[in-house]
Amino acid sequence: MITLNVDLDERSYPIFIGDNLLNYFLNNKNLISDYIKGKQIVIVSNETIAPLYLKKTLELFSSYQCKSVILPDGEIYKTYDGILPIINCLMENQFDRHVTLVALGGGVVGDMTGFAAAIYRRGVNFIQIPTTLLAQVDSSVGGKTGVNHPLGKNMIGSFHQPQCVIADTNTLKTLDDRQLSSGIAEVIKYALINNASFFNWLLNNMDALINRDADALAYAIKFSCQDKAAIVAADEKEQGQRAILNLGHTFGHAIETALGYGNCLHGEAVAIGMVMAADLSVRHGWIDSDTQQKIIELIKLASLPVQIPAEEKQVSVQELSRLMQGDKKVLDGQLHLVLINALGNSFITSEFDRTKLEQTLETFSTK
Ligand SMILES: NC(=O)c1ccc[n+]([C@@H]2O[C@H](COP(=O)([O-])OP(=O)(O)OC[C@H]3O[C@@H](n4cnc5c(N)ncnc54)[C@H](O)[C@@H]3O)[C@@H](O)[C@H]2O)c1
Ligand SMILES: [Zn+2]
Repeated sequence: MITLNVDLDERSYPIFIGDNLLNYFLNNKNLISDYIKGKQIVIVSNETIAPLYLKKTLELFSSYQCKSVILPDGEIYKTYDGILPIINCLMENQFDRHVTLVALGGGVVGDMTGFAAAIYRRGVNFIQIPTTLLAQVDSSVGGKTGVNHPLGKNMIGSFHQPQCVIADTNTLKTLDDRQLSSGIAEVIKYALINNASFFNWLLNNMDALINRDADALAYAIKFSCQDKAAIVAADEKEQGQRAILNLGHTFGHAIETALGYGNCLHGEAVAIGMVMAADLSVRHGWIDSDTQQKIIELIKLASLPVQIPAEEKQVSVQELSRLMQGDKKVLDGQLHLVLINALGNSFITSEFDRTKLEQTLETFSTK
């Protein structure tokens, strides 16, 4: 088991990463008790994950007063109304301020459970048990919680840090190939942000990751979490440098919203968004087209898209532009983007050429 720490003073917490960790915790139940305040637990999962891992998770908390809430599966349910079943369960059972919510699932369950924990009685504890690669390398760490609004992704939310994160790589065995690739998009993001040697490691090990080699997965998860933990520790509430983690996301969120939540997976949209960020960076002369090609090559090796799929719905420049302008990264009307100035080096800027952005959107739009 690898243990990393997210350093946030009194809100610090560990991330446990390893194969078969659920069993390990089950055999050492005292370990989990360090992260629980009271006697009450609510496990939140969804209808796909519950049949696979709920029984084991219930056993882990068998010495507590424990309820479970099973949500429908899908990004379309990550809404304000979607969290009501969690709140209703907490209210109906009169759970107190010491209750701990447990998010058993991917990023959707994690974001919704975390948000419910943030607002129930003005904030109760929660534990993340991420079961997708995307959740293990990204969404379960850092305390961003929330739900979507029809007009924008993740627009309703709160910063609320978990008590601990338990990333059992064994759960990735039941994940389908497309979801695994979606998670790899966020792993590639860390390499592009600040680590050229990790980028080269990914080029050499993409086959192993795609084939779910346990060591390769553990290394990629550890690297990603370490990186995210350091960035979050330096800027918990995204006052500045944490926004670097949004590489590919301003474009990606616009794509996700335009295509309709759930039609394009989050990581797929981020992959296309990173290619768009590279395209815009080339137009400014910040990277050359060889570097862009290397980025595209790695993304393709991960079986991820590099263009907006044209089958689902046509997306126009105006629509992308409007959605990007509504993104959270707009401050005082100024759009900030994460762009790339070398392989393994990204930066946040609002000083880019609007005409060049228009050209990038023109190149990638499908209408
Ligand atoms: N909070 C953050 O910092 C942050 C960061 C990145 C992404 N996100 C959010 O995360 C969400 C995407 O998360 P995701 O990619 O994990 O999607 P997801 O939660 O929808 O999970 C993907 C699919 O895999 C299924 N699944 C999950 N674990 C499984 C397993 N072990 N075996 C089989 N099936 C399994 C799920 O039921 C779902 O159908 C988006 O809503 C995104 O906005 C949040
Ligand atoms: Zn993301």
